[in-house]
Amino acid sequence: MPSPALSLDIPSHVPPELVMPFPLHLGATTYDNPYDTVIPAIHNMPPAFWAPNAWSGMEPAWVFRRAEDLNTIFLDTEHFSSKDVAPFAALIGENWLMLPLEADPPHHANYRALLTPLLTPKRVAMMNDRVREHARTYINRFKDNNGCDFIREFAARFPIAVFLELFGLPIDEVEQFLTWEDDLLHNPDLGVKADSVRAVKNHLMSVVDERRKNPREDLISLFTHATIQDRPATSDEIWGLCLTLYTGGLDTVTNSLGWHFRYLATHPEQQQLLRNNPAMIPDAVEELLRAFSIATITRTCIKPVTISGIRLEPGDKVMVSTPLGSTDPEAYDKPNEVQFDRKPRHMAFGSGIHNCVGLRLARRELHIALEEILATLPPFRLAPDARILSSLGGVISQKNLPLVW
Ligand code: HEM
Repeated sequence: MPSPALSLDIPSHVPPELVMPFPLHLGATTYDNPYDTVIPAIHNMPPAFWAPNAWSGMEPAWVFRRAEDLNTIFLDTEHFSSKDVAPFAALIGENWLMLPLEADPPHHANYRALLTPLLTPKRVAMMNDRVREHARTYINRFKDNNGCDFIREFAARFPIAVFLELFGLPIDEVEQFLTWEDDLLHNPDLGVKADSVRAVKNHLMSVVDERRKNPREDLISLFTHATIQDRPATSDEIWGLCLTLYTGGLDTVTNSLGWHFRYLATHPEQQQLLRNNPAMIPDAVEELLRAFSIATITRTCIKPVTISGIRLEPGDKVMVSTPLGSTDPEAYDKPNEVQFDRKPRHMAFGSGIHNCVGLRLARRELHIALEEILATLPPFRLAPDARILSSLGGVISQKNLPLVW
């Protein structure tokens, strides 16, 4: 008996035997640790399949699970477009792009060139002390208790504080930005999502207007006065840049931190190893980023192309799932084992022209969080009665992470 999903229109170029559900679709949740269960199970599926429920949890898309194929897609901007990777403009009936995320060549390079100089190693090093101060502020709030909800009390708020610092916004806006972020990225109600896109836009664009008159040393001022091919950036372009940094730089850091700390809470020997050898933290973070890659992004095929024997036609959507590429058994020996000395090449930050422009800042945040928490808290573990709900689509995230010490 075919499942209801299989009764939908399957395009003629899709082999029917490759039609199967995508377990990491938007809306999917689990109380298990998905890196121990769902993700290894997908590696028992065919190297590529066509999932009716993949795109936004409702529309069909191809899923490739091998690192080699995913890298090919990341690098191939001739056959794959990044337009429409995010639903936010359509949600409020507008048609701006998230930049540089949704721009294709040749325009992509113009927007990317605005961001690259702002996030160089030197610039990020200059932020070091402030980032550390923000981490300490949050740790100090719970260090004298015997536990915390790590997501709520640290991982969600710390990256917002860093974002506000970059944007030159007051630190007391953390709570407001957290509420907007939660609604915008995680609320299933499309009306609530749309309201929060409008609210963030109104707020940030009012700051843009203010910075036009009174520029400061912050990213909003730089975007406001940016030129693109010798003309001033439009309001839509400035907003597209702001929204990408807001949505790209917060939830990703929050959830990477969440998985890294869950791993350490459940592997006391590895935690002790880092306590004894803080110099190992950068290598450990690279391996944790690999083992717990979080982002599934999308591409749209714009010219016919064949990837590992699979024919794709223009209009076909593709899920580019970094958690799959980073745990591909053909690319890594014992991919589900965390080995701090592995020094892996991984795709947690993507690859090709759209690879994460904020990766240096992200790494700084992850290193500093580990350094400060290991130096301040006694050995921590998962609360014995912990029941953790994880969402699997878009960014693999945990709603809560109760730690005790
Ligand atoms: C651990 C944290 C992070 C992870 C896992 C992550 C992951 C990614 C991935 C996978 C992409 C590629 C998207 C694509 O190919 O469509 C990306 C792009 C991007 N990320 Fe990150 N990111 C993180 C932190 C940050 C931070 C802190 C910032 C901002 C300071 C940032 C800003 C961006 C921007 C602007 C892009 C778009 C680049 C482009 O299109 O050229 N990310 N990120």
